[in-house]
Amino acid sequence: MAKRIGILTGGGDCPGLNAAIRAIVRRAIGAHEMECFGILRGWRGLLDGLASPLTLESVSGILTRGGTILRTSRTNPFASPDGAMAIMRNVRRFGLDGVIAVGGDDTFVVAERLHRENGLKVIGVPTTIDNDMEGTEYSFGFDSTVNIAMEAIDRIHTTAESHDRVMIVEVMGRQSGWIAVYAGLAGGADIILIPEKPVNLQEICDTIVRRHDRGKDFSIIVVAEGVRLAGHAAEAALAVPNHKLDEFGRAPTGGIGQVLAKEIEKRTGYETRVTVLGHIQRGGSPTAFDRVLGARLGMAAADLAQAEEFGKMVALQANKVVMLPIEVGTRRKPVPDDLYDVAKAFFG
Ligand code: F6P
Repeated sequence: MAKRIGILTGGGDCPGLNAAIRAIVRRAIGAHEMECFGILRGWRGLLDGLASPLTLESVSGILTRGGTILRTSRTNPFASPDGAMAIMRNVRRFGLDGVIAVGGDDTFVVAERLHRENGLKVIGVPTTIDNDMEGTEYSFGFDSTVNIAMEAIDRIHTTAESHDRVMIVEVMGRQSGWIAVYAGLAGGADIILIPEKPVNLQEICDTIVRRHDRGKDFSIIVVAEGVRLAGHAAEAALAVPNHKLDEFGRAPTGGIGQVLAKEIEKRTGYETRVTVLGHIQRGGSPTAFDRVLGARLGMAAADLAQAEEFGKMVALQANKVVMLPIEVGTRRKPVPDDLYDVAKAFFG
């Protein structure tokens, strides 16, 4: 009997997800004669029993599309006492011989635990625009996001220069600064602030003043949304929880740009404006890099399912696709010092 695999996409969507889904289905059906089932809305679909067959026709024409045809959600089955049992019941009900979970660290945490505690046969495909999953040098979605942010910074440059303003560009990156460093470096930012590095407000202001002193009347600061100014009063207002936490206990981030802008204006007297790029960074068509990476990782995941290598993830290392224990992808990969040092060399 043909093997049947389920495919789900969980967590924040990323450009390149459809390229990966297409590759999994094409390989699984075309090379391994498997059956594919699309599970809707990440782990939510396995909790509620929302799945239907995926055919070669269902994945035709999706390569260039952003988002995910399978939809996604930030569902944590372990947030309810019988969530894991419900998942396993539906896996049996749909007759799935394995599940390919495409997502970020939260999706992987659930996959790893279901594998370890409940015996779910699962394979992980890493994807996050934040590029902060351990084990893989790149996750698809990141390159598209960086290019969108870089283009925004390029545009902000010309208006910053015309008005002699300090311009703050707030980019995504809840826990890590990969997007900020790459987009900031590529876009010629004068200062890049990331969660991995402590922020010293006075140093930032001094850098801007020094730029003015040498005739540069504008400055571009790129800040990752996850940056925090420990103990700062204006920052405390950001932490007021008027938002619901998601099922992984995460609050929405964002707003640090405004806090910084007020402080910089107060301390330097320079007019300062903020642009929050937000979800524009996650939407739209994937770059060639993300389409190719999605295709490579998707194909490799289908091969692992055929070989019954469950409890594993696919990853990119030294531009080769490798297989690792899925647990590796649950850990966070911070921006390395040597990369930040390159960015820092252009500060000021
Ligand atoms: O999934 C990563 C990410 O894009 C983060 O960079 C960002 O903080 C978060 O998702 C935003 O999540 P949501 O789309 O749920 O607001």
